[in-house]
Amino acid sequence: MFEPVILDTRRLLLRPLRKEDASIFFEVWSDPEAVRYFSFPPMQDVEQAHARVADKLQSSSDGNSVICVIESKDTGEVLGDCALFNGVSHSRRAEIGYCLGRKYWGKGYMVEAADALIEHGFKQAGLRRIEADIDPRNLPSIQLVERLGFKREGYLRERWMIGGEVADTVLYGLIHSDRYQA
Ligand SMILES: CC(C)(COP(=O)(O)OP(=O)(O)OC[C@H]1O[C@@H](n2cnc3c(N)ncnc32)[C@H](O)[C@@H]1OP(=O)(O)O)[C@@H](O)C(=O)NCCC(=O)NCCS
Repeated sequence: MFEPVILDTRRLLLRPLRKEDASIFFEVWSDPEAVRYFSFPPMQDVEQAHARVADKLQSSSDGNSVICVIESKDTGEVLGDCALFNGVSHSRRAEIGYCLGRKYWGKGYMVEAADALIEHGFKQAGLRRIEADIDPRNLPSIQLVERLGFKREGYLRERWMIGGEVADTVLYGLIHSDRYQA
């Protein structure tokens, strides 16, 4: 359904994930604030980051996801990642996920990156619908998807159990015709 891609935006370069990115992402995935609303608790060991990167690379090579590492064009630093994953080809839909290192929040990087990835998803990958599964307490993530034009579609109670904590989901959706008027 998906192939690895390089996307170029005003300030950012989005490029495919590589095995050797694991140690950079360990810094993010071990930060309790950054992964507060993720489906796993903060990582304790870099091996966990290697295993997660290996899973992501597998899903990418299976064509079920497109995973982009976000780099600053100015400095070459890795700022975070954004991805379309859990692709369902017969329904031409996928989910969007994203994360920035904490020092890069509040600068508009993710809206810029996600907008390019969504454009790619609809225009090149042929998606019809993109979903975002968000913890209702994750206001920066809710603001991000609303800025991107997603619509709030539903509220799923007690959908997750993460590290002993039960969490709800607010489900957002963006369909092709929301973005591209006929
Ligand atoms: C979700 C997440 C990516 C949002 O990050 P963010 O920095 O708020 O989002 P953006 O990069 O789009 O930046 C938007 C912010 O930058 C500001 N900004 C500054 N310069 C900007 C610019 N040139 N363009 C747009 N916005 C700009 C905006 O005003 C906005 O700030 P505000 O929310 O205080 O109004 C971030 O909080 C994160 O990585 N969280 C941890 C991971 C996570 O929870 N992922 C989601 C799981 S569902």
